[in-house]
Amino acid sequence: MKKYLMANWKMQLLNTEAIELAGELVMGLEQLGVDKTNNIETVFCAQYTALPQLSKVLVNSKIKLGAQDVFYHEKGQYTGEVSPLQLKELGVEYVIIGHSERRKFLKETDEEVNRKIKISLEHGLTPIFCVGETAEERRSNKTEVTIIRQITRGLEDVELKDDQKIIIAYEPVWAISPAPPAKPEEVSVVIKLIRHLLKDFFAPKVCQEQIITVYGGSASGENVKSFMQVDGIGGALVGGASLTKDKFLPMIEEMN
Ligand code: PGA
Repeated sequence: MKKYLMANWKMQLLNTEAIELAGELVMGLEQLGVDKTNNIETVFCAQYTALPQLSKVLVNSKIKLGAQDVFYHEKGQYTGEVSPLQLKELGVEYVIIGHSERRKFLKETDEEVNRKIKISLEHGLTPIFCVGETAEERRSNKTEVTIIRQITRGLEDVELKDDQKIIIAYEPVWAISPAPPAKPEEVSVVIKLIRHLLKDFFAPKVCQEQIITVYGGSASGENVKSFMQVDGIGGALVGGASLTKDKFLPMIEEMN
C-alpha cells in the first residue's frame, strides 16, 4: 500500500523560504528516485500565502500541495477565511483539519472540524484529520475518551466516494516537537482504538482501503521506521523535521 509523508510547515517559513525549500526537496526527491517508484505520496502543507507560487514549483513533480486549514463555507461574508474552492483553484489536494494548535490557539471545536472535513470531501480535497490527547488528558487517563470524542464527532455524517480517502493523523499533543516523540507501543494502542472506531462509520473495505492512519509528533529520520512498523500506520505528518532538506530527505529514504 502507498505510504504517506506529509510536511506540515506551520507558520515557520517566509514565503521565499518555503519556495526555496520546496525547490530543494523537489530536486532531492528526484535524485532519490521517489518520483519514479511511486510508493510514497509526499505532500507539502504550506501557509496559504505561499500556495500560489508553490503550485508552480510543484507543477512537474508528483509532490502534492496541501493547506493547513480551510473554512466550512464555499463563499460569502467571512472575512479572513479561505474556502475549499479557493484552495482547489490553486491545485491544492490535501488539507490539514483540526490540528491541535488550531484546537488550542483558535479554539477550534470538534463540530467545526466535522464541517471542514465534510466540505473538503464535497470539493474533492483530502482531509488530513488530526486527533490527539494533551499531556493533561493522558495524565488523567482521558486518552481514550478524548480520541473517541474527536473521532466520533469529527466523522459524524461523513461519507466517502469510491475514489476518496481520509488521512487520520494521530498526534499526541505531548509528543509534538520540541517534546520527545511518543513510543511506538503507545502509538500502537491509540491507532488500534482509532481503527476500531472507524468500523462504526465505514464499511470494512472503505476502512481498509480509503482511511489511512498516520503518526505525527517529533517524527524524524531516526524514528520514522519504528513508527512505520506499527500495525495500522501508513505514514507520518511531520513538523520540525520537514523544515530542512537534510532532515526531510532521510525520512523519505527510511520509508522507501
Ligand atoms: P512535529 O510537528 O513533527 O514538529 O512534532 C508535527 C505536527 O504538529 O504536525
